[in-house]
Amino acid sequence: MAISIKTAADIEGMRLAGRLASEVLDMLTPYVRPGVTTKDIDRLAHEYMTQVQRGIPATLGYAPPGYPAYPASLCTSLNDVVCHGIPDDRPLKNGDIVNIDVTVIKDGWHGDNSRMFVVGEASIAARRLCQVTFEAMWKGIVKVRPGARLGDIGHAIQTFAEHAGYSVVREFCGHGVGARFHEEPQVLHYGRPGTLETLQPGMIFTIEPMINAGKRDIKEDRKGGRPYDGWTIVTRDRSLSAQWEHSVLVTETGYEVLTVSHGSPEPPAFATAGYGERLGRLPAQTLPPGAPLPSGLLGTSGIAGLKDSSLAIGPAFATT
Ligand code: MF3
Ligand code: CO
Ligand code: CO
Repeated sequence: MAISIKTAADIEGMRLAGRLASEVLDMLTPYVRPGVTTKDIDRLAHEYMTQVQRGIPATLGYAPPGYPAYPASLCTSLNDVVCHGIPDDRPLKNGDIVNIDVTVIKDGWHGDNSRMFVVGEASIAARRLCQVTFEAMWKGIVKVRPGARLGDIGHAIQTFAEHAGYSVVREFCGHGVGARFHEEPQVLHYGRPGTLETLQPGMIFTIEPMINAGKRDIKEDRKGGRPYDGWTIVTRDRSLSAQWEHSVLVTETGYEVLTVSHGSPEPPAFATAGYGERLGRLPAQTLPPGAPLPSGLLGTSGIAGLKDSSLAIGPAFATT
């Protein structure tokens, strides 16, 4: 099947789904701290997506061929986990780095994005990996325009990451996104300029490089002889791995990042177009950064490590 070209109406739907996916990460940000478990984060995100945003967490029950149904509403990939980490009961620790990957379905459209979070105070090495991976994603995004080739994106990411002394994971890639979670094309994060598909206005795909501090090789996570969970991928050499992800539209003149919200990290200086006018046109935040959640979202147990006062009922939500 060919790469779908989105209509103006489709793009409106994708803008909303993308903003909501980004706002889930904004909402989670103050909770990503020592003592909070990745299951706590999953529960918060699930409640927010379903009750506040009236959307659907795309990962919950997602079962592509050869995989068991994914059991959570987001992925939490910690330290040496490359991707698809499943939330569990282990509390985050000072110095951890964690990727949180959220995909929201709204009105049938998928918004897919992820960010790295540094838990407390991490090493300079860990922080540099997160920063370089963020810039590597943007090195790919700024290549997006009609007439450019997918190989241009992969090459820009690979060159930047390898010059920084890191390696690019080959087995997982970005993907077309829209009415389906994973569509054509595959968006490799390595490659040669001037190769592969030519970009056209109306294409939408993710750019989501996984960058390892050590070697590029990966393996299934079978730590401690546990049976494989069917999803979690780690670095073969157990070095740290980082990832960032945006969903990006090819416009008539360049790109538009769809997964943007008021909490989106500032693009690097070389990305002069940044989020364009997109950010300015967004409605007021559905949730100010750090605002407490409605009490119901936290259940009776609350979140380990957060004081009760953090759980007070917040201002009413404005949601779309
Ligand atoms: N959100 C991931 C991506 O960027 C896919 C996660 S699939 C899951 O493509 F089942 F692991 F959640
Ligand atoms: Co994706
Ligand atoms: Co994703």
